[in-house]
Amino acid sequence: MSFEGSFIARKFFSSLNASSYDLVVKYTTFGKDSTWKKHIVKHIKEYHKCILDLACGTGICSTFIKSEKLDLYGADLTFEYILKAKKRMKYSLLTNSIAEFLPFKSNMFDLVISSYLAKYANIKLLVEEIWRITKKNGSVVFHDFTFPNNIFMKFFWHKYFRILNFIGKIAKPWESVLSNLDNLIKETKWTTMLLNALGNKGFKSIVIESHTFGTSAIVSAIKP
Ligand SMILES: C[S@@+](CC[C@H](N)C(=O)[O-])C[C@H]1O[C@@H](n2cnc3c(N)ncnc32)[C@H](O)[C@@H]1O
Repeated sequence: MSFEGSFIARKFFSSLNASSYDLVVKYTTFGKDSTWKKHIVKHIKEYHKCILDLACGTGICSTFIKSEKLDLYGADLTFEYILKAKKRMKYSLLTNSIAEFLPFKSNMFDLVISSYLAKYANIKLLVEEIWRITKKNGSVVFHDFTFPNNIFMKFFWHKYFRILNFIGKIAKPWESVLSNLDNLIKETKWTTMLLNALGNKGFKSIVIESHTFGTSAIVSAIKP
């Protein structure tokens, strides 16, 4: 059983960078993070009442959910990030837990959303777990970075990450992330693995949307 991914996440996210995370994600994605999150929450349907923001981090994605009439839950590996989420949003429950083994009842959620988890996760275990916690006819939505296919985009992507690598040498709390994120994104097979695992488990209506010139993708599916 490999937990290499969550080992990387533990090195990346900590008390050192929890306070600056929101600004870093906003500016390093040129504000595209908000656009991607708006696409994620488009998957919320009127009949969705119980929603989990999986790997909620500081709660940015949760803020895009109009939660007055919903039961909103959050879960994340990094305690210091959860503390920030707790101050920001009213959750029915916020737990410090690993996505592959969640402290939730079976068939509990109408919708599970997740932003920037897939590349760290053990996809096979993650899909088993989201199948367990999602209700019949419930949906799952996963968003994360992808390495672009287009040759011009690859060129600019590499140039941009050279700049981020350099910034990482100065901005110490972000050194680990900014020095390694490019290789992680290049090496991860999260889209293929997730599409296969969802299909094998029995999820239906599996769709992948590519965003921002192939630098990010959203995979969605329904538990029949
Ligand atoms: C880049 S942050 C994204 C946070 C938030 N989803 C957002 O969009 O701003 C990645 C988050 O994933 C969490 N994470 C990574 N691997 C995890 C795992 N296996 N289980 C739970 N959380 C995980 C980290 O703790 C971190 O808070």
